[in-house]
Amino acid sequence: MGSEPADAPLRLVLCGSVDHGKSTLVGRLLHETGALPAGRIEAVRGACERRGVAFEWAFLTDALQAERDQNVTIDAAHIEMRTAQRRVRLIDAPGHEEFLRNMITGAAGADAALLLVAADEGWRGQSRRHAWLLGLLGLRQVAVVVNKMDAVAWDEGAFRRIVAEGEKFLAEAGLAPVAWVPVSAREGEGVTRWSDHPALAWSRGTSVAEVVDGFVPASAPEGRPLRFTVQDVWRQDARRIVVGRVETGRVQVGDAVTFWPFHREATVTTIERWPEPGAPEAGPGECVGLTLAEPVFVERGHVMSHRADAPLVSNRARASVFWLGATDLAADAAVRVKLGAQSVAARVAEVRRAFDPARPDDAPSGGAIPRRGAGEVTLQFATPLAFDPHARIEETGRFVLLEGEQIAGGGVITETAGGAGRGESRGGNVTETLGRITAAHRAARHGHRGGVVWCTGLSGAGKSTLARAAERELWGRGWQVCVLDGDNLRRGLNADLTFSPSDRLENNRRAAEAARLLAEAGLAVIVAIISPYRAQRELARRVVLEGGDDFFEVFVRAPLAVCEQRDPKGLYAKVRAGQIKEFTGVDAPYEEPEAAELVLATDALSEAEGTERLIQFIVGRLGM
Ligand code: ADX
Repeated sequence: MGSEPADAPLRLVLCGSVDHGKSTLVGRLLHETGALPAGRIEAVRGACERRGVAFEWAFLTDALQAERDQNVTIDAAHIEMRTAQRRVRLIDAPGHEEFLRNMITGAAGADAALLLVAADEGWRGQSRRHAWLLGLLGLRQVAVVVNKMDAVAWDEGAFRRIVAEGEKFLAEAGLAPVAWVPVSAREGEGVTRWSDHPALAWSRGTSVAEVVDGFVPASAPEGRPLRFTVQDVWRQDARRIVVGRVETGRVQVGDAVTFWPFHREATVTTIERWPEPGAPEAGPGECVGLTLAEPVFVERGHVMSHRADAPLVSNRARASVFWLGATDLAADAAVRVKLGAQSVAARVAEVRRAFDPARPDDAPSGGAIPRRGAGEVTLQFATPLAFDPHARIEETGRFVLLEGEQIAGGGVITETAGGAGRGESRGGNVTETLGRITAAHRAARHGHRGGVVWCTGLSGAGKSTLARAAERELWGRGWQVCVLDGDNLRRGLNADLTFSPSDRLENNRRAAEAARLLAEAGLAVIVAIISPYRAQRELARRVVLEGGDDFFEVFVRAPLAVCEQRDPKGLYAKVRAGQIKEFTGVDAPYEEPEAAELVLATDALSEAEGTERLIQFIVGRLGM
């Protein structure tokens, strides 16, 4: 879960309530592994005697904790110990909400966890919640310590019942503990050794210290795809330095990189460190500055990858979440999502599952996620985000949910929900119907196949002009052909949408769905729509291909200056007069196609030539 070098200590998180003996277990572990500074136990024993109370291991842990909190001694900043094989850093899981917060922000990155439960009390809601979170975050090295066995007279049946109950809900949380250790931390049984008391005969096995010794620190995420989160962009003299953190993978001088979500390509010129420049490459966990060969638009929150292995970019994602907000998390709720350095307004598009990990069998009311509950949701972001499924890259796959400035939950991305959860309906209970008239029947009647020719390009590049000219010509040849024009769609089907990035994506999604329906009806559909985002055009392709029809991307290309000079609708003039904001190509992005099936450079071709090429292309692909 983390990014420390391979010789780093094992980061072990301890979950369980104080009443179940957590402090006692820690005190014992520290003592028996020789981690305590000389004189510490004596000091605490002395204090107990003076106050007339019996010595408790927990007092010792609490004293260490207090010092840590006050930062009295520097080496008490972390509680560390050694087992036979390794250095272990103990991470306390404090109160529930703090624990959730620390875990989800990565502040308490852990390699392994001990779940503590008292034999006399059994599992509690909090243990279940913690277990569920560990499972959610993908922690796989987990062991259960069943403490206070002395309180149940080392009754094997009591232990077995706890194991049986625990196995069930841990499995639901995705956890399979490597060991179940019956102990009495207070009496020092099972922590590092066992006495030969006959009552314990059944229980002797691997001690807590031995189990911990068997855990391994997570290896540094070197071999994974490069993800670099941009924290800031500095100007130093005439240079622009992109400052951020290598989350995973490595970046080298000379690398061809891309910044997401707006797909800006660049080459790394130098890697800057302070005070010394150091090596011409950087690895996981390093915070460095980059200078780029190209003056591309980059800002805080963007994610950089290598060109070949990009993150997902979408304005929708499915996620598993836990919720701490003041009221239940229901569909339509407005939240803020912080993912790495990206922060966007978001809406809960749907709640797919809601439950309380502490009481998984009680269905929450109204399908909303209750406070301290968990669930699966689809999130709709106000602007596209770059992310990865958590199972692939944890660092760019987990996020925090904010209500105002407050952390109100967190979660992990399970997948994109690009086509707005295509194939499913928010209303539920819908079934696809299939007709008896197939694409082949339609093609036989029309003399050509149905399909989508998706023309993308700047406003004024000539999309509509070429589309309309090709439509007329093909119609003359007896084709069933139509044009779906962005401007026209925006006057009806898409009249509720603005030109915000998120609305443009939705605009394009609907256009793709409409084009698919028309193609299914056997038509040759020429779409003329700016569709500025590459990811969304890919999604349009998927939507149409899934329906069984062909999809072709045509890049109607003209330099911005040419479009502006043509200015057929007088819009560029308005843009320059400050009357239109977020205009594509001016102050809103346009991501050029990388692999369009056809490019029509309208600054070099006449209208007739462009039309002819488009017709030839369509006839070649859809004609029979
Ligand atoms: S898209 O970006 O969402 O794909 P779409 O093709 O539907 O755009 O609509 C683009 C048309 O809307 C342009 O041809 C232009 O006439 C008009 N328009 C108005 N405002 C804008 C804007 N801010 N950016 C781009 N086009 C705009």
